[in-house]
Amino acid sequence: MSTTAETFGAPATTGRARRRIGFGVIGFGWLGQAHSRSLLRIPTLFPEREFDSELVVCGDTVPERLEDAVRSFGFGRGTADWREVVEDPAVDVVLIAAPNMLHLELIEAAAAAGKHVFCEKPVGGTPEQTVRAEQVARAAGVITGVGYNYRGAPLVQYARRLIADGHLGEITNYRGRFFSMYGSDPLGVLSWRFLVDQAGHGVTTDLMSHSVDLAHMLLGPITKVVGTTATFIPERPLPGATGTHYGRGRPGDPTGAVTNEDYAGMLCEFSGGARGTFEASRSIVGPESQMAFEVYGTKGALGWNLEKLNELQLYLVEDELHTGYRTVFGGDRFPYHGHFVPGSANGIGFEDLVVIEDYEFCRAVAQGREYRPGFEAALEWVSVQAALLKSAGSGGWEDVVSLRAP
Ligand SMILES: NC(=O)c1ccc[n+]([C@@H]2O[C@H](COP(=O)([O-])OP(=O)(O)OC[C@H]3O[C@@H](n4cnc5c(N)ncnc54)[C@H](O)[C@@H]3O)[C@@H](O)[C@H]2O)c1
Repeated sequence: MSTTAETFGAPATTGRARRRIGFGVIGFGWLGQAHSRSLLRIPTLFPEREFDSELVVCGDTVPERLEDAVRSFGFGRGTADWREVVEDPAVDVVLIAAPNMLHLELIEAAAAAGKHVFCEKPVGGTPEQTVRAEQVARAAGVITGVGYNYRGAPLVQYARRLIADGHLGEITNYRGRFFSMYGSDPLGVLSWRFLVDQAGHGVTTDLMSHSVDLAHMLLGPITKVVGTTATFIPERPLPGATGTHYGRGRPGDPTGAVTNEDYAGMLCEFSGGARGTFEASRSIVGPESQMAFEVYGTKGALGWNLEKLNELQLYLVEDELHTGYRTVFGGDRFPYHGHFVPGSANGIGFEDLVVIEDYEFCRAVAQGREYRPGFEAALEWVSVQAALLKSAGSGGWEDVVSLRAP
C-alpha cells in the first residue's frame, strides 16, 4: 500500500546542479492548465529545488487553447496531434490531463517512448484500463505519478502523522465522502464526464477515487465492500465545442443520455479492523465541493474538508474537563504551507495542492526514484472500485481482490 510517508516534505538535496525536466502536457483544460501554471510557479516558491522544468510542447485539439499555451504560458509549441508530444526528444515527462478514456493510449505510447508519466486521476476510465496502464509503465521502468492532489494538503499530512503516531489510539471507523454540485443542475451540459465512452465510469471514477485514495493513505487497505450506484439525472443538454462540466445549457436545448453513474455509496471493512463508509455524488444539492473525511479512534478523532482546507478538526481524549473538538489552523509549521504564505491561518488554496504534488513529482524524477502516489495507488483504488461495482450488481458483500497484472 503506497503511503506517501517516506519522502513527503523531506529536505532538498542541496549543492547539486539542477536537473532540467522537459514537460509535454496533453489536454489543456482545467487540470492541464493548473499543472502548467504550477510548474511555472515552482521556481518562485521553492528556491531549494533540485530541478528546473521546461514547458516544451502542449497537445490539445482546441486551437484557441494551444494558442494560449504558447502565448500566455510560454510553451515552446502547441500541437493538435498528441503523438508529437510523446515523440518530442526534449520531453522527459508526459503529463496527461485529457479525458479519462484517452489515458491508456497516451500512457502506452509514452511508456514505449521511455518517458516518465504523470497522469491525472483516475488513470484510465475503467479498472481494466488502469490495470493495463500500471502494467505497461512498470514493464517500461518509467516513473509514474497520479493526480491525487489532496494527499499533499498540509493538514491532511498532519492527520496522517497523528494517526500513524497513535494519537487517535486504535482506529475504529472512517467516513469518506466527495459531494460536489458540479452536476446538480439538470441544465449542466453533457460534457465528457457524463459519457461512459469518454469518462469511463462516472462518479466512482471521478470523485470516489480521491476519497478512497486518501483512506488508503491514512488507514491502509480495504478488504471487503458492499455498495450501490445510481444515475439521478438521465438526460442533459448537449455541450458546445469547449463545454466543460461547469457549463450550462438552456431549456429546450437538444439533450443526450447520461451513460454513467451520478452517485455511489459503500460500506467497507479495512484490513486493520476499522469499518468505513464512503459516498460520492455529483448531482447532490447543498455540499458544493465537500471532499471530506472523518477518522474515529479509541483515543481521539479528526476531520478535514476541502471546503475548509486550512482547518483540521481534532478531538483528543485528554482529561474529563477539557473535551470537545478544537480547530487546528493551517500554517507554516506544516510542510509546505510556508512556501506559499508565512505565519498561521493565512490560507492556501486548491491550486497550491497541485503545486505541491508537482514539486514532489519533479523531485522524484530529478532523483531518479519512485514517486508516491504512482500508478500502484491508482491500481489499489480500482481494485476497490471493481468490488464496489460488482457489489452494486450482486447486492451483496464482495471481497477486494488485487487486480495487479503479472
Ligand atoms: N486531481 C483533481 O483534482 C482533478 C480535477 C479535475 C480533473 N481531473 C482530471 O484531469 C483530467 C482532465 O480533466 P479536466 O477537468 O481538466 O477536463 P477538461 O475538459 O477541462 O480538459 C480536457 C482537455 O483535453 C482536451 N482533449 C480532448 N481530446 C483530446 C485529444 N485527443 N488530444 C489532446 N487533447 C484532448 C480538451 O480539448 C480539453 O482541453 C481528467 O482525467 C480528470 O479526471 C483531476
